[in-house]
Amino acid sequence: MRALCYEAHGDPRSGVVKKVFDPRPGPGQLVVRVVAAALNPADWKIVEGKFPFLVFPKKPFVPGWEAAGVVEAMDSRVSGFRVGEEVLVSTGPSAGAVAEKLAVSALHVAKKPAGLSFEEAAAVPAAGQTALQGLRDAAGLRAGQRLLVNGAGGGVGTFAVQIGKIFGAHVTAVASAAKLEALASLGADVLVDYRKADFAKGREEWDVVFDVVPNRTFGECSRVLAREGIYVTTLPGAGPFLASLGASFRAPFGFRKRCRWVMLKPRGEDLAQLVSWVEEGRLKPVVGKVAPLDQAAWALSDLSAGHATGKTVIRVA
Ligand SMILES: NC(=O)c1ccc[n+]([C@@H]2O[C@H](COP(=O)([O-])OP(=O)(O)OC[C@H]3O[C@@H](n4cnc5c(N)ncnc54)[C@H](OP(=O)(O)O)[C@@H]3O)[C@@H](O)[C@H]2O)c1
Repeated sequence: MRALCYEAHGDPRSGVVKKVFDPRPGPGQLVVRVVAAALNPADWKIVEGKFPFLVFPKKPFVPGWEAAGVVEAMDSRVSGFRVGEEVLVSTGPSAGAVAEKLAVSALHVAKKPAGLSFEEAAAVPAAGQTALQGLRDAAGLRAGQRLLVNGAGGGVGTFAVQIGKIFGAHVTAVASAAKLEALASLGADVLVDYRKADFAKGREEWDVVFDVVPNRTFGECSRVLAREGIYVTTLPGAGPFLASLGASFRAPFGFRKRCRWVMLKPRGEDLAQLVSWVEEGRLKPVVGKVAPLDQAAWALSDLSAGHATGKTVIRVA
């Protein structure tokens, strides 16, 4: 099979589509013939060596944490799926979805809703679960709360706006001007063009600030958090850890604001939840650019500019 391969850290454009061994289903795994795979910023960050602790998991490194396709083979212990069935998948930590075939645990596979294209289905797993886990688990978002999504127009943000509405929150979406109309159509109640206004310097308060981009800090957002407000970042690390520790030291003195982070954990039940919202027409994956496999390296480079609309998808077959 062919896959987008990186042998060394460097420019995302240095990726080459070449032949690699076909995967076989390991214990509890399915092999999926990939029709479409979606890209994530983690892909270009790993390629560029921006995650020193996450060097190349294996060589060649094949990017892609999510895909949609057709089941080609299954381990005999897998039940609930059949060969020829259309599915969407998260890869887990191994990546490798920008390829013609993919071996994945059955725990991270869901049946593709009939009304969804393969491109749309591939766009759901990673960004959808990050948004869901960020809002539900890290923020504990509840109906009636005020949510601000910073970076609302990209992969995670377009899901976060819609999931915020599903949870019954009042949603403020922060994005560049060109994306605001589409965000209103996804349900955002208030739109902020970040080039015209800095939400962190205004007078409004939010119960949850979901810093998806992420380009702010807990300290910067603290003054626009409600009394028990929560700041959630998509970039775990020393900064949020120390901010969280600092906030808990101040708790005995009446400080109730909290700093948290989300770290995507592929979970079958979360994937199933997202799929059921899609089937009910409450959640719509937003696909921005679509590129063929031969141009995947360029598409990854384009994503690295940091201004994607929705998800960038690679059409593999
Ligand atoms: N922790 C985890 O498990 C996890 C999982 C998934 C993603 N992530 C991280 O989450 C981040 C976002 O991921 P993504 O998939 O949503 O990325 P993305 O698709 O590249 O979207 C980023 C969005 O931010 C917007 N943006 C850029 N500068 C901005 C600014 N100053 N203010 C507001 N918005 C701005 C961009 O478009 P415009 O500038 O045109 O509005 C773009 O729509 C990445 O850093 C990624 O690595 C973490």
